Amino acid sequence: MNKAELQTPLRAKDSEFGAGLGLASILVVDDEPGMRNFLVKILRPRCKRVEQAANCEEASKLLDANHFDIVILDNVMPGKSGLDWLREQRSVGFFADAILITAFADLETAIQALRAGAVDFVLKPFRSNQILNAVARSIDRLHLRRENFLLKYELSADATSGRGRLLGPSQEIAGVREMMERAAPLPTAVLFTGDSGTGKEIAARALHAMSDRADKPFVPVNCAAISPELIANELFGNVKGVAADPSVRQDGLLLYASGGTLFLDEIVELPLPVQATLLRVIEEMRIRPFGSEREIPLNLRFIFATNADLPVAVQEGRFREDLYHRINVLNIQMPSLRQRISDIGDLAAMFMLKISHELGVPPLVLDEQVLLNLACYDWPGNVRELRNLIERSLILGEFPPEFAGTGDEISPEAVDSLQLVEKRHILTVLDACDGNRAEAARRLGVSRKTIDRKCAMWDG
Ligand SMILES: Nc1ncnc2c1ncn2[C@@H]1O[C@H](COP(=O)(O)OP(=O)(O)OP(=O)(O)O)[C@@H](O)[C@H]1O
Ligand SMILES: [Mg+2]
Repeated sequence: MNKAELQTPLRAKDSEFGAGLGLASILVVDDEPGMRNFLVKILRPRCKRVEQAANCEEASKLLDANHFDIVILDNVMPGKSGLDWLREQRSVGFFADAILITAFADLETAIQALRAGAVDFVLKPFRSNQILNAVARSIDRLHLRRENFLLKYELSADATSGRGRLLGPSQEIAGVREMMERAAPLPTAVLFTGDSGTGKEIAARALHAMSDRADKPFVPVNCAAISPELIANELFGNVKGVAADPSVRQDGLLLYASGGTLFLDEIVELPLPVQATLLRVIEEMRIRPFGSEREIPLNLRFIFATNADLPVAVQEGRFREDLYHRINVLNIQMPSLRQRISDIGDLAAMFMLKISHELGVPPLVLDEQVLLNLACYDWPGNVRELRNLIERSLILGEFPPEFAGTGDEISPEAVDSLQLVEKRHILTVLDACDGNRAEAARRLGVSRKTIDRKCAMWDG
């Protein structure tokens, strides 16, 4: 038998329990060393992490320092029963699913286990696949709960906001991409600033996709869209979610995003008391859900975005200064569309293709006249406005008169001609300012350096 054949049975066996098993972190609590060894031996090769505790005190200590998805708990232990400990833990803050194992199963124990919030119950003696099944079921439920919760956020978000590739051949976007490439592998928080519609969300998603967390959740939270009374609860969770049922806990977005990236959009809208909590969370990388005595260690990367002027918000007392300094470690400023008109051609062509496909209508021709008209416009709503214009034109079957073209087929030189448009535009403004580059830069909303660079390029 060759090596591959030897490995096949184990893999086939594992897949029977689902892929979730490999992601699970498990704590085994049992006073009998034989039982602990048995459980560790069957779980460790199949799960992400397995630790063991011989009694309740050890288990509590491990829970203080780590997050576990599942706790496998023996009910009969000297000192304190597993169920009593579980009940006690619920009030301290217990953020795992508990599977109870016991040799003495009566209806009363089963009911008590349910009340204490155990998710499953396995009778001793058991075979290895019985416990593996129970763990796999519990992990599947956990993932479903997580997906469900996160999907709610995805669905409530604006469907047109930042998805897809960060397009644009301009130097400005190249600069943004370069910063992102540097930041992507680091755990450092990133703050995206820039006007509305400049692509802060699409950049945040791209940063996540470039990082080693790409296969973990990206959780976007729009701080302006959640009511101030609810946002702390949604972010940090609650151990007393449903008063009538103390076993129910409500995990917050931070815990659900664990391992991945949390994108806090419109960060300036966060209420001041929540800003204080968030600051502590970022500094200590631990959260304490409401009503919990225990803190949970977090593994999370934070990305923030705002179109507000944060220093002004700090001056006005709407944003905590200490939080501002904490999140402003790496600031990536998204350029406005007016600052990078050479990107308009690619962006317009991409939106035309994508939206015409979505709407099931033929694309409109982006001839040179249209591109010229697009390039001369001011774009206060930035890329989002461009996207909306193209969608509206596709629905109406034509561009609005101020953007309409001649109807000629698009030439391969169209994009090159955009660079010409840009040149002409800048030269016209320069002319109007009598060659004063600083003034032209101000009017164009670009930096003086940009003008110098372009002029040098054209001269050369
Ligand atoms: N460089 C880009 N490449 C491709 N699409 C882009 C780019 N920039 C922006 N977009 C698109 O423009 C729209 C607006 O982008 P996004 O939602 O990321 O903006 P934003 O900066 O978060 O805006 P707001 O501040 O209003 O929330 C989205 O449809 C996004 O896909
Ligand atoms: Mg946004």
